[in-house]
Amino acid sequence: MSWRFSPPLFFLFFLCSTPLILTQLNDDPTIKTMHDFSGYPLHDPSNPFKSSDSISNPLSVDAQALQKQIDELSTFSDAPAPSVTRILYTKNDVLARRYIKNLMGLAGLSVREDAVGNIFGCWDGYEPGLTAVATGSHIDAIPYSGKYDGVVGVLGAIEAINALKRSGFKPKRSLEIILFTSEEPTRFGIGCLGSRLLAGGETLAEALKTMVDGQNISFLEAARSAGYARDEDDLSSVFLKKDSYSSFVELHIEQGPILEKEGISIGIVTNIAAPASIKVDFEGNGGHAGGVLMPERNDAGLAAAELTLAVEKHVMDSGSIDTVGTVGILELHPGAINSIPSKAHLEIDVRDIDEDRRNAVIEKIHNSAKSIAKKRKVTLSVFKIINQDPPAQSENSIIKAMEAASKELNLTRKYMVSRAYHDSLFMARISPMGMIFIPCYKGYSHKPEEYASPQDIENGVKVLALTLAKLSVS
Ligand SMILES: *[C@@H]1O[C@H](CO)[C@@H](O)[C@H](O)[C@H]1NC(C)=O
Ligand SMILES: *[C@@H]1O[C@H](CO)[C@@H](O)[C@H](O)[C@H]1NC(C)=O
Ligand SMILES: [Zn+2]
Repeated sequence: MSWRFSPPLFFLFFLCSTPLILTQLNDDPTIKTMHDFSGYPLHDPSNPFKSSDSISNPLSVDAQALQKQIDELSTFSDAPAPSVTRILYTKNDVLARRYIKNLMGLAGLSVREDAVGNIFGCWDGYEPGLTAVATGSHIDAIPYSGKYDGVVGVLGAIEAINALKRSGFKPKRSLEIILFTSEEPTRFGIGCLGSRLLAGGETLAEALKTMVDGQNISFLEAARSAGYARDEDDLSSVFLKKDSYSSFVELHIEQGPILEKEGISIGIVTNIAAPASIKVDFEGNGGHAGGVLMPERNDAGLAAAELTLAVEKHVMDSGSIDTVGTVGILELHPGAINSIPSKAHLEIDVRDIDEDRRNAVIEKIHNSAKSIAKKRKVTLSVFKIINQDPPAQSENSIIKAMEAASKELNLTRKYMVSRAYHDSLFMARISPMGMIFIPCYKGYSHKPEEYASPQDIENGVKVLALTLAKLSVS
């Protein structure tokens, strides 16, 4: 744990003064309650999200300031604009983190960091005994990508808090913003490193102690160079207990074309699909492409080709549009035109929102690999499931809150599946979860052309703010 940001002392004093707010709440007319804020009775047990026709919504988002922050953050990059490259624990990553911590401080949040650099900015609620509502995303960027992926969910969350503060809202449950360390797998090959650890990734905590990057720099060395992991044996200090938060909501660009194409402002995510990754090796005898006659061959390349088609067949046979499978890597050895492949290496990605259905597909792929190997007289030397994360479902109460918020803001909306995975997938292990999508230009992401309009970002931030407000008082 390290404390690298020191906001002016008066912020801290202000933040620690929650009992004051608590005692004043009932008689201080300057403190607005959720009732004043959104127009529905705070203690209506029948429907906490019911809105009234008389709502005047005072939420104002400073879209211009937010855009300026997005642009400024993008300058902390190892690649020239408009590309953004920001890799875990590099100098630009550290500078970008400092930028975020500064904004959190300016928003009056109390800031803390854990041993791997997950950053938390907390706005204390007036009932400190209740678990907090959290939101957040990531700011790391794969090489030559854009400036919106993740960033909208971090800077947007800070602006959502600012908008709530300007509106006079006081949270009952604390509201906490989380900046997750290394959502992208770029440096150490592990996606959602920070949120996986928060969710109690014991094997990951152990593996990180010996992990090195492509330059043979160890994870711990890299983390220490950025000011984290001072006590290398204590990565388990990052783990959060289940139900540490009453809700977690992430705002994110869609990274797909649907919202833009359909002219819809808000995507309400109901499910996050999760990938399983499989590595497969076939080994045959190889030989001269002219000398070995067809009946004598055991061609590892053909086994791989056949398995590739089997992947497609098993995925299609699942009968669901949500099941997808991809052979993204297929390597032949020795890779010469006049040599029968003696080895073939495949990497297969299978995703679904239904874990059992996905795992059934993996089982069929495994059976096919074995039978193809037998038929073609090659050896199935490796069939290894590298990871098999369970998909996640959004919590119904959070879906309702996101929907009510969009409706009150008169924003068009639709239910969606997130086919990319996000830190929310791992937060779902320890907290009820929901995600808000906004449109992005042509669905582009992970490239410099990535773009979301200030209006779409403003809409997303408003829905996030109102959703957080609702969850904070429920
Ligand atoms: C990586 O670093 C370790 C420790 O410094 C060293 O023992 C090892 O030989 C290095 N490996 C490579 C591939 O350079
Ligand atoms: C939403 O639309 C209704 C009806 O047109 C209007 O009364 C209300 O003020 C609008 N609310 C917002 C936040 O724009
Ligand atoms: Zn992202």
